[in-house]
Amino acid sequence: MLLEVKDLQISYGNKITVDSASFSLEKGEILSIVGESGSGKTTVIRALMGCLPGNGHVSSGDILFEGCSVVNNTADDWRKMCGEEMSMIFQDSGNMINPIRKVGQQFTDYIMAHKPQTSKNDAYKMAVTMLADVRLPNPDNIMNSYPFELSGGMRQRVGIAMAMVFHPKILLADEPTSALDVTTQAQIIRQIVDVRNEFNAAVIIVTHNLGVASYMSNKIIVMKNGHIVESGSREEVIGKPQHSYTKELLAAVPVVGGKRYYE
Ligand SMILES: Nc1ncnc2c1ncn2[C@@H]1O[C@H](COP(=O)(O)OP(=O)(O)O)[C@@H](O)[C@H]1O
Ligand SMILES: [Mg+2]
Repeated sequence: MLLEVKDLQISYGNKITVDSASFSLEKGEILSIVGESGSGKTTVIRALMGCLPGNGHVSSGDILFEGCSVVNNTADDWRKMCGEEMSMIFQDSGNMINPIRKVGQQFTDYIMAHKPQTSKNDAYKMAVTMLADVRLPNPDNIMNSYPFELSGGMRQRVGIAMAMVFHPKILLADEPTSALDVTTQAQIIRQIVDVRNEFNAAVIIVTHNLGVASYMSNKIIVMKNGHIVESGSREEVIGKPQHSYTKELLAAVPVVGGKRYYE
Protein backbone atom coordinates (compact mmCIF):
# COMPACT_ATOMS: atom_id res chain seq x y z
CA MET A 1 0.00 0.00 0.00
CA LEU A 2 1.36 3.42 -0.97
CA LEU A 3 -0.60 5.49 1.52
CA GLU A 4 -2.68 4.52 4.52
CA VAL A 5 -4.57 7.02 6.61
CA LYS A 6 -5.80 5.49 9.84
CA ASP A 7 -8.39 7.08 12.07
CA LEU A 8 -6.86 10.48 11.46
CA GLN A 9 -7.82 13.37 13.69
CA ILE A 10 -6.56 16.86 12.85
CA SER A 11 -6.93 19.87 15.13
CA TYR A 12 -6.20 23.57 15.00
CA GLY A 13 -5.08 24.32 18.54
CA ASN A 14 -7.44 22.23 20.62
CA LYS A 15 -10.33 22.45 18.18
CA ILE A 16 -10.87 19.14 16.38
CA THR A 17 -11.44 19.89 12.68
CA VAL A 18 -11.20 16.48 11.02
CA ASP A 19 -12.02 13.28 12.88
CA SER A 20 -11.92 9.52 12.28
CA ALA A 21 -10.70 9.79 8.70
CA SER A 22 -9.47 6.52 7.21
CA PHE A 23 -8.61 5.71 3.61
CA SER A 24 -5.88 4.14 1.56
CA LEU A 25 -4.29 4.55 -1.82
CA GLU A 26 -2.40 2.15 -4.07
CA LYS A 27 0.17 3.04 -6.69
CA GLY A 28 -1.44 4.66 -9.72
CA GLU A 29 -4.87 5.11 -8.13
CA ILE A 30 -6.84 8.33 -8.30
CA LEU A 31 -8.76 9.30 -5.18
CA SER A 32 -11.13 12.25 -5.15
CA ILE A 33 -12.18 14.12 -2.05
CA VAL A 34 -15.45 15.99 -2.49
CA GLY A 35 -17.52 18.02 -0.07
CA GLU A 36 -18.74 21.50 0.66
CA SER A 37 -16.53 24.41 1.59
CA GLY A 38 -15.24 24.11 5.16
CA SER A 39 -15.68 20.34 5.35
CA GLY A 40 -11.95 19.77 5.94
CA LYS A 41 -10.67 18.74 2.48
CA THR A 42 -7.71 21.12 2.40
CA THR A 43 -6.91 20.25 5.99
CA VAL A 44 -6.61 16.56 5.07
CA ILE A 45 -4.46 17.29 1.98
CA ARG A 46 -2.16 19.57 3.96
CA ALA A 47 -1.76 17.00 6.74
CA LEU A 48 -0.59 14.51 4.09
CA MET A 49 2.10 16.97 2.97
CA GLY A 50 3.13 17.93 6.51
CA CYS A 51 2.17 21.54 5.88
CA LEU A 52 -0.82 22.32 8.09
CA PRO A 53 -1.09 26.08 8.57
CA GLY A 54 -0.96 27.91 11.90
CA ASN A 55 -1.47 25.69 14.92
CA GLY A 56 -2.80 22.77 12.86
CA HIS A 57 -1.52 19.34 13.84
CA VAL A 58 -2.36 15.65 13.71
CA SER A 59 -3.93 15.07 17.12
CA SER A 60 -4.42 11.32 16.78
CA GLY A 61 -4.35 8.49 14.28
CA ASP A 62 -1.65 7.82 11.76
CA ILE A 63 -0.50 8.44 8.19
CA LEU A 64 1.67 5.72 6.67
CA PHE A 65 3.63 6.36 3.51
CA GLU A 66 4.93 3.06 2.08
CA GLY A 67 4.34 1.53 5.50
CA CYS A 68 6.23 4.18 7.50
CA SER A 69 4.50 6.64 9.78
CA VAL A 70 5.11 10.26 8.80
CA VAL A 71 3.17 12.04 11.56
CA ASN A 72 6.32 12.59 13.61
CA ASN A 73 8.37 13.74 10.62
CA THR A 74 10.70 16.67 11.22
CA ALA A 75 10.65 19.67 8.87
CA ASP A 76 13.78 18.22 7.31
CA ASP A 77 12.09 14.83 6.70
CA TRP A 78 9.20 16.63 4.96
CA ARG A 79 11.57 18.70 2.85
CA LYS A 80 13.16 15.51 1.58
CA MET A 81 9.79 13.95 0.75
CA CYS A 82 8.17 16.97 -0.85
CA GLY A 83 8.69 17.08 -4.57
CA GLU A 84 10.33 13.68 -4.75
CA GLU A 85 7.94 11.33 -2.94
CA MET A 86 4.84 13.52 -3.10
CA SER A 87 4.08 16.92 -4.51
CA MET A 88 1.24 19.34 -4.75
CA ILE A 89 -0.48 21.53 -7.29
CA PHE A 90 -2.57 24.42 -6.11
CA GLN A 91 -5.82 26.06 -7.04
CA ASP A 92 -4.09 28.57 -9.25
CA SER A 93 -0.40 27.90 -9.80
CA GLY A 94 -0.22 31.57 -10.72
CA ASN A 95 -0.34 32.22 -6.99
CA MET A 96 2.57 29.94 -6.31
CA ILE A 97 4.70 31.18 -9.16
CA ASN A 98 6.48 34.43 -8.39
CA PRO A 99 4.98 37.06 -10.72
CA ILE A 100 8.16 39.05 -11.24
CA ARG A 101 10.43 36.18 -12.26
CA LYS A 102 10.35 34.26 -15.50
CA VAL A 103 8.97 30.72 -15.47
CA GLY A 104 12.35 29.34 -16.58
CA GLN A 105 14.27 30.94 -13.70
CA GLN A 106 11.78 29.64 -11.19
CA PHE A 107 11.64 26.16 -12.64
CA THR A 108 15.44 25.74 -12.84
CA ASP A 109 15.88 27.19 -9.33
CA TYR A 110 13.29 24.74 -8.02
CA ILE A 111 15.12 21.80 -9.61
CA MET A 112 18.52 22.95 -8.36
CA ALA A 113 17.20 23.60 -4.84
CA HIS A 114 16.07 19.96 -4.66
CA LYS A 115 19.03 18.49 -6.50
CA PRO A 116 21.98 20.84 -5.95
CA GLN A 117 24.29 18.62 -8.01
CA THR A 118 22.28 19.44 -11.16
CA SER A 119 23.93 21.91 -13.53
CA LYS A 120 21.93 24.90 -14.71
CA ASN A 121 21.99 23.53 -18.22
CA ASP A 122 20.65 20.12 -17.17
CA ALA A 123 17.97 21.75 -14.99
CA TYR A 124 16.89 23.80 -18.01
CA LYS A 125 16.66 20.67 -20.15
CA MET A 126 14.67 18.82 -17.46
CA ALA A 127 12.25 21.73 -17.22
CA VAL A 128 11.76 22.00 -20.99
CA THR A 129 11.17 18.25 -21.24
CA MET A 130 8.50 18.41 -18.54
CA LEU A 131 6.78 21.42 -20.11
CA ALA A 132 6.59 19.57 -23.44
CA ASP A 133 5.30 16.55 -21.56
CA VAL A 134 2.29 18.46 -20.26
CA ARG A 135 1.62 19.65 -23.82
CA LEU A 136 2.79 23.20 -23.58
CA PRO A 137 3.72 24.29 -27.09
CA ASN A 138 7.09 26.03 -27.54
CA PRO A 139 8.50 25.20 -24.10
CA ASP A 140 11.45 27.52 -24.67
CA ASN A 141 9.05 30.43 -25.07
CA ILE A 142 7.23 29.41 -21.89
CA MET A 143 10.54 29.31 -20.01
CA ASN A 144 11.21 32.83 -21.21
CA SER A 145 7.78 34.15 -20.18
CA TYR A 146 6.55 35.88 -17.07
CA PRO A 147 3.63 34.08 -15.42
CA PHE A 148 1.21 36.92 -16.28
CA GLU A 149 1.96 36.39 -19.96
CA LEU A 150 0.43 32.89 -19.75
CA SER A 151 -3.23 31.94 -19.59
CA GLY A 152 -4.60 30.34 -16.41
CA GLY A 153 -4.63 26.94 -18.11
CA MET A 154 -1.01 27.30 -19.22
CA ARG A 155 0.05 28.36 -15.73
CA GLN A 156 -1.70 25.33 -14.32
CA ARG A 157 0.18 23.12 -16.80
CA VAL A 158 3.42 24.72 -15.60
CA GLY A 159 2.29 23.86 -12.05
CA ILE A 160 1.74 20.24 -13.05
CA ALA A 161 5.12 20.11 -14.83
CA MET A 162 6.91 21.44 -11.74
CA ALA A 163 5.05 19.06 -9.46
CA MET A 164 5.95 16.05 -11.62
CA VAL A 165 9.57 16.85 -12.47
CA PHE A 166 11.00 14.40 -9.90
CA HIS A 167 8.36 11.77 -10.68
CA PRO A 168 6.75 11.74 -7.22
CA LYS A 169 4.68 8.73 -6.20
CA ILE A 170 1.73 10.86 -5.11
CA LEU A 171 0.41 14.02 -6.69
CA LEU A 172 -1.90 16.06 -4.47
CA ALA A 173 -4.16 18.58 -6.15
CA ASP A 174 -6.34 20.96 -4.14
CA GLU A 175 -9.14 22.20 -6.42
CA PRO A 176 -6.68 22.56 -9.30
CA THR A 177 -9.27 23.76 -11.79
CA SER A 178 -11.59 25.99 -9.80
CA ALA A 179 -9.95 29.19 -11.10
CA LEU A 180 -10.40 28.10 -14.73
CA ASP A 181 -13.22 28.25 -17.27
CA VAL A 182 -15.13 25.02 -17.96
CA THR A 183 -13.30 24.05 -21.17
CA THR A 184 -9.89 24.61 -19.64
CA GLN A 185 -10.98 22.72 -16.51
CA ALA A 186 -11.69 19.63 -18.60
CA GLN A 187 -8.28 19.88 -20.32
CA ILE A 188 -6.44 20.14 -17.01
CA ILE A 189 -8.37 17.20 -15.57
CA ARG A 190 -7.40 15.13 -18.64
CA GLN A 191 -3.80 16.26 -18.21
CA ILE A 192 -3.78 15.02 -14.62
CA VAL A 193 -5.12 11.66 -15.77
CA ASP A 194 -2.40 11.56 -18.47
CA VAL A 195 0.26 12.28 -15.87
CA ARG A 196 -1.05 9.40 -13.78
CA ASN A 197 -0.93 7.10 -16.80
CA GLU A 198 2.54 8.17 -17.83
CA PHE A 199 4.25 8.12 -14.42
CA ASN A 200 1.98 5.64 -12.63
CA ALA A 201 1.65 8.24 -9.90
CA ALA A 202 -1.20 8.06 -7.43
CA VAL A 203 -3.34 11.20 -7.34
CA ILE A 204 -5.46 12.73 -4.61
CA ILE A 205 -7.63 15.49 -5.98
CA VAL A 206 -9.93 17.78 -4.06
CA THR A 207 -12.85 18.92 -6.15
CA HIS A 208 -16.21 20.54 -5.65
CA ASN A 209 -17.55 18.66 -8.61
CA LEU A 210 -18.70 15.08 -8.17
CA GLY A 211 -18.87 14.86 -11.98
CA VAL A 212 -15.12 15.48 -12.20
CA ALA A 213 -14.54 12.98 -9.39
CA SER A 214 -16.60 10.41 -11.22
CA TYR A 215 -14.83 10.99 -14.53
CA MET A 216 -11.33 10.46 -13.22
CA SER A 217 -11.32 8.53 -9.94
CA ASN A 218 -10.90 4.97 -8.81
CA LYS A 219 -12.06 5.92 -5.33
CA ILE A 220 -14.18 8.73 -3.95
CA ILE A 221 -14.44 10.16 -0.45
CA VAL A 222 -17.28 12.48 0.51
CA MET A 223 -16.62 14.81 3.45
CA LYS A 224 -18.99 16.86 5.55
CA ASN A 225 -18.22 18.77 8.75
CA GLY A 226 -14.82 17.16 9.18
CA HIS A 227 -16.05 13.60 8.73
CA ILE A 228 -15.97 11.16 5.85
CA VAL A 229 -19.67 10.45 5.35
CA GLU A 230 -19.22 8.15 2.39
CA SER A 231 -16.33 6.41 0.68
CA GLY A 232 -15.81 3.63 -1.78
CA SER A 233 -15.00 2.81 -5.35
CA ARG A 234 -16.23 5.16 -8.04
CA GLU A 235 -18.92 2.65 -8.96
CA GLU A 236 -20.12 2.32 -5.37
CA VAL A 237 -20.29 6.01 -4.60
CA ILE A 238 -21.76 7.13 -7.94
CA GLY A 239 -23.88 4.07 -8.63
CA LYS A 240 -25.18 3.33 -5.15
CA PRO A 241 -24.77 6.40 -2.98
CA GLN A 242 -25.80 5.61 0.59
CA HIS A 243 -25.68 8.98 2.27
CA SER A 244 -28.30 11.62 1.54
CA TYR A 245 -25.54 14.23 1.25
CA THR A 246 -23.87 12.27 -1.58
CA LYS A 247 -27.22 12.06 -3.34
CA GLU A 248 -27.58 15.83 -3.05
CA LEU A 249 -24.11 16.35 -4.52
CA LEU A 250 -24.92 14.02 -7.40
CA ALA A 251 -28.11 15.89 -8.11
CA ALA A 252 -26.11 19.12 -8.20
CA VAL A 253 -23.71 18.01 -10.95
CA PRO A 254 -24.35 20.32 -13.89
CA VAL A 255 -25.89 18.88 -17.00
CA VAL A 256 -23.98 19.82 -20.17
CA GLY A 257 -25.45 19.11 -23.57
CA GLY A 258 -28.11 16.88 -22.06
CA LYS A 259 -25.50 14.77 -20.27
CA ARG A 260 -23.94 14.86 -16.89
CA TYR A 261 -20.15 14.95 -17.07
CA TYR A 262 -19.93 11.58 -15.35
CA GLU A 263 -22.20 9.62 -17.63
N1 LIG B 1 -5.22 28.00 9.63
C1 LIG B 1 -6.36 27.64 10.24
N2 LIG B 1 -6.55 27.88 11.56
C2 LIG B 1 -7.69 27.52 12.19
N3 LIG B 1 -8.71 26.89 11.59
C3 LIG B 1 -8.60 26.63 10.29
C4 LIG B 1 -7.42 26.97 9.54
N4 LIG B 1 -7.60 26.55 8.27
C5 LIG B 1 -8.81 25.99 8.22
N5 LIG B 1 -9.41 26.02 9.42
C6 LIG B 1 -10.76 25.51 9.73
O1 LIG B 1 -10.85 24.16 9.33
C7 LIG B 1 -12.11 23.87 8.78
C8 LIG B 1 -11.95 23.15 7.47
O2 LIG B 1 -11.30 23.99 6.55
P1 LIG B 1 -10.70 23.45 5.19
O3 LIG B 1 -9.89 22.26 5.45
O4 LIG B 1 -10.04 24.61 4.54
O5 LIG B 1 -12.03 23.05 4.41
P2 LIG B 1 -12.28 22.84 2.85
O6 LIG B 1 -10.96 22.72 2.17
O7 LIG B 1 -13.11 21.61 2.75
O8 LIG B 1 -13.04 24.05 2.39
C9 LIG B 1 -12.84 25.20 8.65
O9 LIG B 1 -13.82 25.27 9.67
C10 LIG B 1 -11.79 26.22 8.89
O10 LIG B 1 -12.28 27.34 9.58
MG1 LIG C 1 -10.17 23.86 0.58
